[in-house]
Amino acid sequence: MARHLITSAIPYINGIKHLGNLVGSQLPADLYARYQRARGNEVMFLCATDEHGTPAELAAAKAGKPVDAYCAEMWEVQARLAEGFRLSFDHFGRSSSEQNKRLTQHFAKVLDAQGLIREVSETQMYSHADGRYLPDRYIEGTCPNCGFDSARGDQCDNCTKQLDPTDLINPRSAISGATDLEVRATKHLFLRQSTLRDTLDAWIDGQTGWPILTTSIAKKWLHDGDGLQDRGITRDLKWGIPAQFDGAPWSGMEGKVFYVWFDAPIEYIACAQEWVDAGKGGDWERWWRTDKGADDVRYVQFMGKDNVPFHTLGFPATLMGANYDGTEPWKMVDYIKSFNYLNYDGGQFSTSQGRGVFMDQALEILPADYWRWWLLSHAPESSD
Ligand code: MF3
Ligand code: ZN
Repeated sequence: MARHLITSAIPYINGIKHLGNLVGSQLPADLYARYQRARGNEVMFLCATDEHGTPAELAAAKAGKPVDAYCAEMWEVQARLAEGFRLSFDHFGRSSSEQNKRLTQHFAKVLDAQGLIREVSETQMYSHADGRYLPDRYIEGTCPNCGFDSARGDQCDNCTKQLDPTDLINPRSAISGATDLEVRATKHLFLRQSTLRDTLDAWIDGQTGWPILTTSIAKKWLHDGDGLQDRGITRDLKWGIPAQFDGAPWSGMEGKVFYVWFDAPIEYIACAQEWVDAGKGGDWERWWRTDKGADDVRYVQFMGKDNVPFHTLGFPATLMGANYDGTEPWKMVDYIKSFNYLNYDGGQFSTSQGRGVFMDQALEILPADYWRWWLLSHAPESSD
Protein backbone atom coordinates (compact mmCIF):
# COMPACT_ATOMS: atom_id res chain seq x y z
CA MET A 1 0.00 0.00 0.00
CA ALA A 2 1.43 3.33 -1.08
CA ARG A 3 1.36 6.26 1.34
CA HIS A 4 0.26 9.74 0.28
CA LEU A 5 0.86 12.97 2.18
CA ILE A 6 -1.44 15.68 0.83
CA THR A 7 -1.58 19.30 1.93
CA SER A 8 -3.80 22.19 0.89
CA ALA A 9 -2.43 25.74 1.20
CA ILE A 10 -3.59 26.91 4.58
CA PRO A 11 -6.21 29.69 4.26
CA TYR A 12 -5.70 32.99 6.03
CA ILE A 13 -7.84 33.37 9.12
CA ASN A 14 -9.11 36.78 7.96
CA GLY A 15 -12.68 35.86 7.18
CA ILE A 16 -14.77 33.36 5.29
CA LYS A 17 -13.14 32.10 2.12
CA HIS A 18 -14.67 32.58 -1.31
CA LEU A 19 -15.20 29.90 -3.96
CA GLY A 20 -12.02 31.00 -5.75
CA ASN A 21 -9.98 30.10 -2.67
CA LEU A 22 -11.84 26.82 -2.36
CA VAL A 23 -11.31 25.63 -5.93
CA GLY A 24 -7.61 26.60 -5.90
CA SER A 25 -6.50 24.48 -2.96
CA GLN A 26 -8.81 22.76 -0.46
CA LEU A 27 -11.27 21.28 -2.94
CA PRO A 28 -8.86 19.72 -5.47
CA ALA A 29 -6.74 18.46 -2.56
CA ASP A 30 -9.86 16.81 -1.14
CA LEU A 31 -10.69 15.22 -4.49
CA TYR A 32 -7.17 13.81 -4.70
CA ALA A 33 -7.27 12.54 -1.10
CA ARG A 34 -10.57 10.78 -1.73
CA TYR A 35 -9.22 9.27 -4.94
CA GLN A 36 -6.13 7.89 -3.20
CA ARG A 37 -8.19 6.47 -0.34
CA ALA A 38 -10.58 4.88 -2.83
CA ARG A 39 -7.59 3.17 -4.45
CA GLY A 40 -6.82 1.61 -1.08
CA ASN A 41 -3.81 3.79 -0.35
CA GLU A 42 -2.91 5.24 3.04
CA VAL A 43 -3.51 8.99 3.11
CA MET A 44 -2.56 11.83 5.45
CA PHE A 45 -4.50 14.92 4.34
CA LEU A 46 -3.66 18.10 6.24
CA CYS A 47 -4.90 21.66 6.28
CA ALA A 48 -5.00 24.44 8.88
CA THR A 49 -5.69 28.12 9.31
CA ASP A 50 -2.91 30.64 8.65
CA GLU A 51 -3.27 32.89 11.68
CA HIS A 52 -0.27 35.18 11.86
CA GLY A 53 0.88 38.28 10.07
CA THR A 54 -0.88 41.37 8.93
CA PRO A 55 -4.03 39.74 7.44
CA ALA A 56 -5.00 38.43 10.90
CA GLU A 57 -4.17 41.67 12.73
CA LEU A 58 -6.03 43.83 10.23
CA ALA A 59 -9.14 41.63 10.21
CA ALA A 60 -9.26 41.46 14.03
CA ALA A 61 -8.93 45.24 14.27
CA LYS A 62 -11.76 45.64 11.78
CA ALA A 63 -13.93 43.24 13.80
CA GLY A 64 -13.03 45.16 16.98
CA LYS A 65 -11.72 42.00 18.68
CA PRO A 66 -8.45 40.94 20.29
CA VAL A 67 -6.54 39.05 17.64
CA ASP A 68 -6.27 35.75 19.56
CA ALA A 69 -10.02 35.68 20.26
CA TYR A 70 -10.76 36.59 16.64
CA CYS A 71 -8.57 33.73 15.41
CA ALA A 72 -10.18 31.19 17.74
CA GLU A 73 -13.64 32.21 16.53
CA MET A 74 -12.72 32.21 12.87
CA TRP A 75 -11.05 28.82 13.16
CA GLU A 76 -14.41 27.42 14.35
CA VAL A 77 -16.20 29.10 11.46
CA GLN A 78 -13.73 27.81 8.86
CA ALA A 79 -13.74 24.31 10.37
CA ARG A 80 -17.55 24.21 10.23
CA LEU A 81 -17.61 25.36 6.60
CA ALA A 82 -14.98 22.75 5.71
CA GLU A 83 -17.31 20.11 7.16
CA GLY A 84 -20.20 21.65 5.22
CA PHE A 85 -18.23 21.17 2.00
CA ARG A 86 -17.25 17.66 3.16
CA LEU A 87 -13.53 18.37 3.03
CA SER A 88 -12.00 15.20 4.43
CA PHE A 89 -8.97 16.54 6.31
CA ASP A 90 -7.32 14.10 8.70
CA HIS A 91 -6.62 17.18 10.76
CA PHE A 92 -7.50 20.87 10.44
CA GLY A 93 -4.87 22.63 12.53
CA ARG A 94 -3.88 26.16 13.47
CA SER A 95 -0.59 27.87 12.66
CA SER A 96 -0.81 29.57 16.07
CA SER A 97 -0.49 26.18 17.82
CA GLU A 98 2.19 25.46 20.43
CA GLN A 99 3.48 22.74 18.12
CA ASN A 100 4.07 25.25 15.33
CA LYS A 101 5.69 27.75 17.66
CA ARG A 102 8.18 25.15 18.88
CA LEU A 103 8.92 23.83 15.42
CA THR A 104 9.30 27.27 13.82
CA GLN A 105 11.74 28.37 16.53
CA HIS A 106 13.55 25.07 16.09
CA PHE A 107 13.96 25.64 12.35
CA ALA A 108 15.31 29.13 13.00
CA LYS A 109 17.91 27.71 15.36
CA VAL A 110 18.96 24.95 13.01
CA LEU A 111 19.15 27.28 10.00
CA ASP A 112 21.31 29.64 12.02
CA ALA A 113 23.58 26.76 13.07
CA GLN A 114 23.98 25.93 9.35
CA GLY A 115 25.09 29.51 8.69
CA LEU A 116 21.97 30.30 6.67
CA ILE A 117 20.67 33.23 8.70
CA ARG A 118 22.14 36.69 8.74
CA GLU A 119 21.18 39.89 10.51
CA VAL A 120 20.38 42.79 8.23
CA SER A 121 19.84 46.44 9.07
CA GLU A 122 17.17 47.59 6.69
CA THR A 123 14.64 50.29 6.19
CA GLN A 124 10.97 49.97 6.97
CA MET A 125 8.08 52.33 6.52
CA TYR A 126 6.98 54.01 9.73
CA SER A 127 3.59 55.73 9.91
CA HIS A 128 3.29 58.73 12.23
CA ALA A 129 -0.50 58.76 11.96
CA ASP A 130 -0.69 55.10 13.05
CA GLY A 131 2.25 55.19 15.47
CA ARG A 132 3.76 51.97 14.13
CA TYR A 133 5.78 50.28 11.41
CA LEU A 134 3.84 49.21 8.33
CA PRO A 135 5.18 45.88 7.10
CA ASP A 136 3.63 43.78 4.32
CA ARG A 137 -0.11 44.24 4.03
CA TYR A 138 -0.19 47.23 6.32
CA ILE A 139 0.91 49.21 3.32
CA GLU A 140 -0.55 49.55 -0.15
CA GLY A 141 0.38 51.40 -3.29
CA THR A 142 1.05 51.06 -6.99
CA CYS A 143 2.96 48.00 -8.20
CA PRO A 144 6.30 48.99 -9.77
CA ASN A 145 6.06 45.94 -12.03
CA CYS A 146 2.55 46.10 -13.54
CA GLY A 147 1.02 49.39 -12.36
CA PHE A 148 -1.83 47.74 -10.37
CA ASP A 149 -2.93 50.43 -7.90
CA SER A 150 -3.80 48.21 -4.92
CA ALA A 151 -0.56 46.22 -4.62
CA ARG A 152 0.37 45.30 -1.06
CA GLY A 153 3.70 45.69 0.63
CA ASP A 154 4.59 42.00 0.34
CA GLN A 155 3.13 41.01 -3.01
CA CYS A 156 1.15 42.30 -5.97
CA ASP A 157 -2.09 40.33 -6.26
CA ASN A 158 -2.33 41.24 -9.93
CA CYS A 159 1.05 40.08 -11.29
CA THR A 160 2.17 37.94 -8.26
CA LYS A 161 5.49 39.78 -7.96
CA GLN A 162 6.95 39.66 -4.44
CA LEU A 163 7.57 43.16 -3.19
CA ASP A 164 9.09 45.08 -0.33
CA PRO A 165 7.08 47.93 1.19
CA THR A 166 9.70 50.39 0.01
CA ASP A 167 9.17 49.28 -3.63
CA LEU A 168 5.61 50.62 -3.81
CA ILE A 169 4.84 53.79 -5.75
CA ASN A 170 2.63 56.29 -3.86
CA PRO A 171 2.55 54.17 -0.69
CA ARG A 172 -0.25 54.59 1.85
CA SER A 173 -1.17 53.01 5.17
CA ALA A 174 -3.70 50.20 4.87
CA ILE A 175 -4.96 51.09 8.35
CA SER A 176 -5.60 54.81 8.02
CA GLY A 177 -4.78 55.68 4.44
CA ALA A 178 -2.08 58.04 5.76
CA THR A 179 0.67 58.99 3.35
CA ASP A 180 3.01 60.80 5.78
CA LEU A 181 5.30 57.78 5.97
CA GLU A 182 8.90 57.83 7.06
CA VAL A 183 11.62 55.38 6.15
CA ARG A 184 13.28 54.16 9.39
CA ALA A 185 16.12 51.77 10.12
CA THR A 186 15.39 48.46 11.89
CA LYS A 187 17.18 45.11 12.23
CA HIS A 188 15.90 41.78 10.89
CA LEU A 189 16.88 38.17 10.33
CA PHE A 190 17.27 37.13 6.71
CA LEU A 191 17.21 33.58 5.34
CA ARG A 192 20.12 33.24 2.94
CA GLN A 193 18.07 31.71 0.12
CA SER A 194 20.55 32.97 -2.46
CA THR A 195 23.13 30.49 -1.12
CA LEU A 196 20.73 27.70 -2.03
CA ARG A 197 19.87 29.01 -5.48
CA ASP A 198 21.76 26.38 -7.49
CA THR A 199 20.56 23.59 -5.22
CA LEU A 200 16.95 24.73 -5.63
CA ASP A 201 17.39 25.13 -9.37
CA ALA A 202 18.76 21.58 -9.71
CA TRP A 203 16.01 20.22 -7.46
CA ILE A 204 13.32 21.78 -9.67
CA ASP A 205 15.05 20.53 -12.83
CA GLY A 206 15.05 17.04 -11.34
CA GLN A 207 11.24 16.94 -11.03
CA THR A 208 9.24 15.37 -13.80
CA GLY A 209 5.76 16.26 -14.95
CA TRP A 210 5.22 19.30 -12.76
CA PRO A 211 2.61 21.73 -14.14
CA ILE A 212 4.14 24.45 -16.33
CA LEU A 213 2.38 27.00 -14.11
CA THR A 214 4.42 25.75 -11.15
CA THR A 215 7.82 25.50 -12.83
CA SER A 216 7.49 28.72 -14.81
CA ILE A 217 6.81 30.78 -11.69
CA ALA A 218 9.65 29.07 -9.82
CA LYS A 219 12.09 29.62 -12.68
CA LYS A 220 11.09 33.25 -12.96
CA TRP A 221 11.99 33.88 -9.31
CA LEU A 222 15.22 31.93 -9.63
CA HIS A 223 16.48 33.73 -12.70
CA ASP A 224 14.72 37.03 -13.36
CA GLY A 225 16.61 40.19 -12.54
CA ASP A 226 19.27 39.54 -9.92
CA GLY A 227 17.90 36.06 -9.23
CA LEU A 228 16.71 34.61 -5.96
CA GLN A 229 17.09 37.11 -3.13
CA ASP A 230 17.58 36.54 0.60
CA ARG A 231 14.29 37.22 2.40
CA GLY A 232 13.53 38.83 5.74
CA ILE A 233 11.97 36.25 8.07
CA THR A 234 11.18 38.60 10.99
CA ARG A 235 8.79 41.53 11.38
CA ASP A 236 8.13 44.41 13.77
CA LEU A 237 4.75 43.09 14.86
CA LYS A 238 3.27 41.97 18.16
CA TRP A 239 1.14 39.08 16.89
CA GLY A 240 3.09 36.04 15.73
CA ILE A 241 5.71 33.55 16.84
CA PRO A 242 8.38 35.37 18.89
CA ALA A 243 11.68 35.55 17.01
CA GLN A 244 13.52 33.26 19.36
CA PHE A 245 15.81 30.32 19.14
CA ASP A 246 14.21 27.13 20.49
CA GLY A 247 12.48 29.40 23.01
CA ALA A 248 15.65 31.23 24.09
CA PRO A 249 15.95 34.98 23.43
CA TRP A 250 17.75 36.08 20.28
CA SER A 251 19.77 39.17 21.00
CA GLY A 252 18.59 42.16 18.99
CA MET A 253 15.28 40.47 18.07
CA GLU A 254 13.33 41.33 21.21
CA GLY A 255 9.75 42.32 20.48
CA LYS A 256 9.87 40.91 16.94
CA VAL A 257 8.08 37.93 15.48
CA PHE A 258 8.74 35.59 12.57
CA TYR A 259 7.28 36.54 9.21
CA VAL A 260 4.00 34.74 8.54
CA TRP A 261 5.39 33.14 5.37
CA PHE A 262 8.19 31.60 7.43
CA ASP A 263 5.94 29.88 9.97
CA ALA A 264 2.90 29.08 7.76
CA PRO A 265 4.40 26.24 5.67
CA ILE A 266 6.08 24.83 8.79
CA GLU A 267 2.51 24.35 10.01
CA TYR A 268 2.18 21.55 7.43
CA ILE A 269 4.56 19.59 9.66
CA ALA A 270 3.25 20.95 12.97
CA CYS A 271 -0.25 19.97 11.85
CA ALA A 272 0.81 16.32 11.81
CA GLN A 273 2.12 16.80 15.37
CA GLU A 274 -1.25 18.34 16.31
CA TRP A 275 -2.91 15.27 14.77
CA VAL A 276 -0.86 13.04 17.08
CA ASP A 277 -1.48 15.25 20.12
CA ALA A 278 -5.22 15.16 19.37
CA GLY A 279 -5.03 11.38 19.75
CA LYS A 280 -5.72 10.66 16.08
CA GLY A 281 -2.49 8.84 15.35
CA GLY A 282 0.76 7.79 16.87
CA ASP A 283 3.57 8.83 14.58
CA TRP A 284 4.06 12.06 12.63
CA GLU A 285 7.71 11.49 11.76
CA ARG A 286 6.78 8.54 9.58
CA TRP A 287 5.18 11.15 7.29
CA TRP A 288 7.74 13.90 7.58
CA ARG A 289 11.25 12.53 8.24
CA THR A 290 12.88 10.43 5.56
CA ASP A 291 15.19 8.87 8.17
CA LYS A 292 12.10 7.77 10.12
CA GLY A 293 9.99 6.08 7.45
CA ALA A 294 8.89 8.93 5.19
CA ASP A 295 11.20 7.94 2.34
CA ASP A 296 8.38 5.96 0.71
CA VAL A 297 5.77 8.70 1.08
CA ARG A 298 4.56 10.59 -1.99
CA TYR A 299 3.89 14.20 -1.01
CA VAL A 300 1.60 16.40 -3.14
CA GLN A 301 0.76 20.05 -2.41
CA PHE A 302 -2.21 22.07 -3.77
CA MET A 303 -2.32 25.86 -4.04
CA GLY A 304 -3.26 28.95 -6.03
CA LYS A 305 -0.55 30.45 -8.25
CA ASP A 306 0.19 33.32 -5.87
CA ASN A 307 1.48 30.73 -3.40
CA VAL A 308 3.91 29.06 -5.81
CA PRO A 309 7.07 31.09 -5.02
CA PHE A 310 6.81 30.22 -1.33
CA HIS A 311 6.30 26.49 -2.00
CA THR A 312 8.87 26.05 -4.76
CA LEU A 313 11.58 28.22 -3.18
CA GLY A 314 10.92 29.58 0.33
CA PHE A 315 9.74 26.43 2.11
CA PRO A 316 12.14 24.10 0.26
CA ALA A 317 14.97 26.48 1.26
CA THR A 318 13.90 26.10 4.90
CA LEU A 319 13.83 22.30 4.68
CA MET A 320 17.00 21.88 2.60
CA GLY A 321 18.80 24.46 4.71
CA ALA A 322 17.91 22.64 7.92
CA ASN A 323 19.47 19.53 6.40
CA TYR A 324 22.58 21.27 5.06
CA ASP A 325 24.83 18.97 7.09
CA GLY A 326 22.62 15.92 6.52
CA THR A 327 21.35 15.56 10.09
CA GLU A 328 17.68 16.56 9.64
CA PRO A 329 16.31 14.97 6.47
CA TRP A 330 12.80 16.39 6.06
CA LYS A 331 10.35 15.04 3.49
CA MET A 332 10.38 17.32 0.44
CA VAL A 333 7.37 17.76 -1.81
CA ASP A 334 7.13 15.42 -4.82
CA TYR A 335 4.52 17.29 -6.85
CA ILE A 336 3.17 20.84 -6.67
CA LYS A 337 -0.25 21.29 -8.23
CA SER A 338 -1.05 24.97 -8.77
CA PHE A 339 -4.13 26.73 -10.11
CA ASN A 340 -4.93 29.95 -11.88
CA TYR A 341 -7.65 32.20 -10.48
CA LEU A 342 -11.36 31.54 -10.71
CA ASN A 343 -12.92 34.84 -11.76
CA TYR A 344 -16.21 36.26 -10.65
CA ASP A 345 -18.38 38.26 -13.02
CA GLY A 346 -15.45 39.35 -15.17
CA GLY A 347 -13.11 40.30 -12.33
CA GLN A 348 -11.29 38.82 -9.38
CA PHE A 349 -12.94 37.49 -6.25
CA SER A 350 -11.87 39.63 -3.33
CA THR A 351 -12.06 38.90 0.38
CA SER A 352 -11.18 42.43 1.39
CA GLN A 353 -13.79 43.93 -0.93
CA GLY A 354 -16.39 41.22 -0.21
CA ARG A 355 -16.64 40.52 -3.94
CA GLY A 356 -17.85 37.09 -5.09
CA VAL A 357 -19.64 34.09 -3.61
CA PHE A 358 -18.39 33.02 -0.20
CA MET A 359 -18.43 29.52 1.29
CA ASP A 360 -21.19 30.25 3.81
CA GLN A 361 -23.46 31.85 1.19
CA ALA A 362 -22.87 29.00 -1.24
CA LEU A 363 -24.10 26.40 1.25
CA GLU A 364 -27.26 28.44 1.85
CA ILE A 365 -28.00 28.36 -1.88
CA LEU A 366 -27.30 24.72 -2.79
CA PRO A 367 -26.04 21.51 -1.17
CA ALA A 368 -22.28 21.08 -1.18
CA ASP A 369 -22.14 18.42 -3.89
CA TYR A 370 -23.54 20.78 -6.54
CA TRP A 371 -20.77 23.25 -5.81
CA ARG A 372 -18.14 20.53 -5.60
CA TRP A 373 -19.10 19.20 -9.00
CA TRP A 374 -19.36 22.59 -10.69
CA LEU A 375 -16.17 23.99 -9.22
CA LEU A 376 -14.05 20.92 -9.86
CA SER A 377 -15.33 20.55 -13.41
CA HIS A 378 -14.46 24.22 -14.02
CA ALA A 379 -11.19 24.29 -12.09
CA PRO A 380 -8.96 27.01 -13.61
CA GLU A 381 -6.08 24.79 -14.66
CA SER A 382 -4.94 26.36 -17.94
CA SER A 383 -5.87 30.03 -17.43
CA ASP A 384 -7.78 32.35 -15.13
N1 MF3 B 1 -2.47 31.76 3.76
C1 MF3 B 1 -1.88 31.73 2.46
C2 MF3 B 1 -2.90 32.19 1.42
O1 MF3 B 1 -4.08 32.06 1.66
C3 MF3 B 1 -1.37 30.36 2.12
C4 MF3 B 1 -0.33 29.82 3.05
S1 MF3 B 1 0.20 28.30 2.52
C5 MF3 B 1 1.48 27.90 3.53
O2 MF3 B 1 -2.51 32.65 0.37
F1 MF3 B 1 2.33 27.22 2.91
F2 MF3 B 1 2.08 28.93 3.98
F3 MF3 B 1 1.04 27.24 4.52
ZN1 ZN C 1 1.96 43.95 -10.18
